[in-house]
Amino acid sequence: MASCSTFNLSPSPKPTKPLPHSLLKPLIQEPETESRTQIQTPYPKLIITGPSKLSGHVPISGSKNSALPILAATLCCSGTSKIHNVPNLFDTRTMASVLASLGAKVEVFNNEMLVNTDGVDSVEPNSDEIRKIRGGFFVIGPLVARFGEAVVALPGGCNIGTRPVDLYIRGLQALGAVVDLRDGKVQAYAANGRGLVGGSFQLDYPSVGATETLMMAACMADGMTVLSNVAREPEVVDLARFLNDSGACVEGAGSNQLVIKGKPLLHGSECVIAADRIEAGTFMLAAAITRSCISISPVIPCQMSCLIHKLSAAGCKIRQYSHDTLEVSAVSRCGGENLQSFEVKTGPYPGFPTDLQPQIMALLTTCNGLSPVEESVFDKRMGHVSELLKLGAKIQVCASTALVFGKDNGSVLSGSSLVANDIRGGMSLVLAGLAAEGTTDISGVAHIDRGYENLDMKLHSLGADVKRLMPLAS
Ligand code: UD1
Repeated sequence: MASCSTFNLSPSPKPTKPLPHSLLKPLIQEPETESRTQIQTPYPKLIITGPSKLSGHVPISGSKNSALPILAATLCCSGTSKIHNVPNLFDTRTMASVLASLGAKVEVFNNEMLVNTDGVDSVEPNSDEIRKIRGGFFVIGPLVARFGEAVVALPGGCNIGTRPVDLYIRGLQALGAVVDLRDGKVQAYAANGRGLVGGSFQLDYPSVGATETLMMAACMADGMTVLSNVAREPEVVDLARFLNDSGACVEGAGSNQLVIKGKPLLHGSECVIAADRIEAGTFMLAAAITRSCISISPVIPCQMSCLIHKLSAAGCKIRQYSHDTLEVSAVSRCGGENLQSFEVKTGPYPGFPTDLQPQIMALLTTCNGLSPVEESVFDKRMGHVSELLKLGAKIQVCASTALVFGKDNGSVLSGSSLVANDIRGGMSLVLAGLAAEGTTDISGVAHIDRGYENLDMKLHSLGADVKRLMPLAS
């Protein structure tokens, strides 16, 4: 094996004693300053010289947002779970550390992770690791379901708006958990002293993470659980598939209702993480913004239909070459390279993904016409706008809508010094840098690296002029 590492962290704290019941505040919210992922270092930096013309093929990595809940779900399983095609990213490595901090044995071989949770001897994962990413919080579901209790710090993740965990908590309460918030940690235990019991819960909003966490919890709750108004995202379906392959009984994944029959314990199984639809969409937008033609695979075309529709309306040509290969061309046969403006409104799947909003906004700055972009999922996901303005983009933000004035309204991108503040917003700056005339340098690249495996290598292989500046060794 080329690279292999086993996570064995310092001794974990022992399971805590059941906590006294206390009433939850109706809405538990993360403290803004403490719990968000803090990546402030200026280096590494990306230096992009544009405008770029891209060509060739780019391989799409496994989905980060599928890998994270599936890794958490190994806590529902005895024996070893073998997960293939895990993207090698900060977030997946952090999730491995979270599991290891509970006493799980985690072995990493390139893009494969072997997880055995038989030795778990703690219900309190390392709080520093949990605070680094949003996905770490998912472990609260399987922990309380399998061990009867869990103490999990409020999570981190991108700073893109209010990200409460009230739905996770109310859902766990509906399954018989007593939940409390103390010292920035959510403490949950089974009220009957044994384990969770099946129940019914309707989510106020189809939260992806809450759906996934409650699905895992319900798989080990005693009896039937019905979860309504759940998220329908492909990552939810991937998780249900893994759980069912591990012996669970989850029906309805992909619809807005899940019916789950609990089992005492699942068994380890093998799974291959599906291609990352957000990475795929980002490269499709890279082709469009540089007026280039590239192909991508593997991709699941039906998951991309919203983006394909938008790009086609703008004037791009999208061809499907095989069941998992798409070609995106923004090169006009007549030599003209104008793309037309269009409207975007983000929404839960099958709506337009919020995780592609910043990148599509970068594209719209290069189209003709006025494009309204409405962000309806997160309340502060416009952090990239101030950076795009530095490149010469013309954008006005009014509440949750950005009005993007295109090329014919004076939006002309030219290189500048920019700061990435979150994964997707940071990637929108990379796309804009590829299209801009001159040199763009982007700091805060660690944010971008959280969501894009081998980004520099992939961009180089397409012909982009991108360099990475590392900090000087002291
Ligand atoms: C996941 C993805 C993220 C993506 C998002 C929406 C992971 C690790 N991250 O995040 O990349 O942008 O889905 O597709 O999978 N909400 C509540 N209460 C809750 C939970 C959520 O009000 O208890 C609200 C949030 O504030 C937000 C909305 O629901 O406004 C959507 O959030 P959610 O679907 O939970 O996103 P995440 O699971 O955090």
